[in-house]
Amino acid sequence: MTRIADAIAPHGGTLINRIASPEQKAEFLSKADHLPRISLDDRAVCDLIAIAIGAFSPIDGFMGQADYKTVVDDMRLANGLPWAIPVTLPVTDEQASTLSEGQLVRLDDPTGRFIGVLELTEKYHYDKTREALNVYRTNEEKHPGVAVVYGQGATYLAGPVWLLEREPDPRFPLYQIDPIDSRHAFRDKGWKSIVAFQTRNPIHRAHEYIIKCALEITDGLFLHPLVGVTKSDDIAADVRMRCYEIMLEHYFPRGRVILAINPCAMRYAGPREAIFHALIRKNYGCTHFIVGRDHAGVGDYYGTYDAQHIFDEFAPGELGIMPLKFEHAFYCKRTQSMATTKTSPSEPDERIHLSGTKVREMLRRGELPPPEFSRPLVAAELARAMQIPESYSI
Ligand code: ADX
Repeated sequence: MTRIADAIAPHGGTLINRIASPEQKAEFLSKADHLPRISLDDRAVCDLIAIAIGAFSPIDGFMGQADYKTVVDDMRLANGLPWAIPVTLPVTDEQASTLSEGQLVRLDDPTGRFIGVLELTEKYHYDKTREALNVYRTNEEKHPGVAVVYGQGATYLAGPVWLLEREPDPRFPLYQIDPIDSRHAFRDKGWKSIVAFQTRNPIHRAHEYIIKCALEITDGLFLHPLVGVTKSDDIAADVRMRCYEIMLEHYFPRGRVILAINPCAMRYAGPREAIFHALIRKNYGCTHFIVGRDHAGVGDYYGTYDAQHIFDEFAPGELGIMPLKFEHAFYCKRTQSMATTKTSPSEPDERIHLSGTKVREMLRRGELPPPEFSRPLVAAELARAMQIPESYSI
């Protein structure tokens, strides 16, 4: 039987797998009590998992200084391969001083559970302002990504990592589809062109519109909401997942969509993060990636289409995955349909679009967003969630 090829190769050519084998795991466990240990925060746990499952291929650990510098300055790994966001493990100088290069370091989750190891190859200081300005395009501490950089330790630890075990996600085990599994699923379905959609919000009608435009020209959709660490005023992942399920059940054709969780942490780095998000989806086996208005943006740090323009900084084919760029979509009262200024003759006052903040304010007042903005079943789910404060943070 001939093996069906994947629609696209992983970034750098090989899908990284840094999940320890049962033998490796047993060996690490036997050493556990004697290894120096570092406690990871939630974001570092997300990074460790993403590295281990190959979502960050070709990266197989926390970045050393050579890769870090070229990523921050030129959006490339030291070998020239495009890469837009540093993947680093910060610790305080005090913590770093207890560790020696060449050592195996035990990585614990925030509850103190042993979850991985780092083969420490390097420790180095870095320039926080430079990282902020180049990666986030601002050094304002109000920016949530910059705040993380300024608040973290001054030394980065680097080296390959191992995850002791890939456990099912406790919240969404059914939707844990790792790159190796999504590639398998796409092959099974015979999909040759797969469009990925990144989101950290419930799907509103503008999202639905651009997704469906993309579905018109591709074989299938990989709906890939980010459920790793987000800022506290983003809508909680469990609420969002229910909204996605509703969308799939009622508004999308069965069989043309795969819903899966993206375990990564949000950086809010706008344009740079759009490249990062695209490369991650390439590793999952997607050939196309949707980039709409202000992708991965926060506040007004980025221009509406900066996250689209940044793709032009790479030569055709360098990224491998193809961005599908969409203008700001809205409900057009004149034509009574979703549209953008590319397809609608409307004046601004004939367009219905609400910001996330506005929708949250409406829900807080007990009002549902209008059907031109949100599918009523989704709005109802959001309203329901509003009465359960711990699962919906505003
Ligand atoms: S993001 O941080 O994940 O980018 P969000 O979930 O709001 O935030 O956006 C998901 C994707 O939809 C992004 O590509 C974004 O650019 C796009 N998008 C969001 N709202 C609109 C809109 N009204 N018109 C066009 N694209 C949009």
